[in-house]
Amino acid sequence: MRAIKQGCTGRERSMNPEENSILAGSTLAATSRTTRHLLLRAFEPGDVDRVHAIQRDSDAMQYTWVAPDLAATAAYLQSHAARRAGHGFAPWIAVLRSEQRIVGYGGLYKDPAAPQWGTEVIYFLERSCWGRGLASEIVEASLELAFTELGLREVGAFARPQNTRSVRVLAKAGFERVEFLEEFERDRFRIDAAKWRSRRLAVSTGASR
Ligand SMILES: CC(C)(COP(=O)(O)OP(=O)(O)OC[C@H]1O[C@@H](n2cnc3c(N)ncnc32)[C@H](O)[C@@H]1OP(=O)(O)O)[C@@H](O)C(=O)NCCC(=O)NCCS
Repeated sequence: MRAIKQGCTGRERSMNPEENSILAGSTLAATSRTTRHLLLRAFEPGDVDRVHAIQRDSDAMQYTWVAPDLAATAAYLQSHAARRAGHGFAPWIAVLRSEQRIVGYGGLYKDPAAPQWGTEVIYFLERSCWGRGLASEIVEASLELAFTELGLREVGAFARPQNTRSVRVLAKAGFERVEFLEEFERDRFRIDAAKWRSRRLAVSTGASR
């Protein structure tokens, strides 16, 4: 039977308290930040309806997690938020600043059932907002958090090969494809801190143009 990839599919187990102490003693990374078009902020209980409206769109979410009902979306969001204190991060609610409207969800994520995959980045956007670079803003904010504030060495990502938009988002951010994982029916991607820093330097000095 095919294994399920939690970050993209939303399967969540009950939490083990020990999993919540991974970064015990470290400072909690900033819970919000702004990008060019987005406010990325921590989940609030009142967000569930809006995120569910995005996540239940089975066409838009065909390659990832389609929320079966409101309770599943609530459980998904709450389980991530509950791990913020232990991990020092959790995916953000993405608010389109110009319209003050929730348009997506994404950020750094760690699968408690599969710690071997380390920290990964996830992103989901309302279909009407695709193609405007918003997922790339979420990914870049996530990498900056990972490599400058959390001091992580590497960030991973998973995408079905058919999810060409998602694959393109990862390629643009500098991720390299590592392998196809049969069990998840997904490619695994990675980027390390050194590569992220050198790409950033190249962009800031214009060397990449
Ligand atoms: C994947 C997803 C987040 C992309 O969001 P987005 O905001 O459109 O992404 P961006 O605009 O930052 O980048 C998309 C890139 O894909 C390109 N693209 C658009 N349609 C494409 C297609 N059919 N095939 C390949 N690339 C495509 C865009 O041109 C853009 O690249 P460019 O900047 O070089 O032109 C969005 O499609 C989504 O929410 N999908 C459903 C959820 C999902 O699958 N999430 C990933 C799994 S965890």
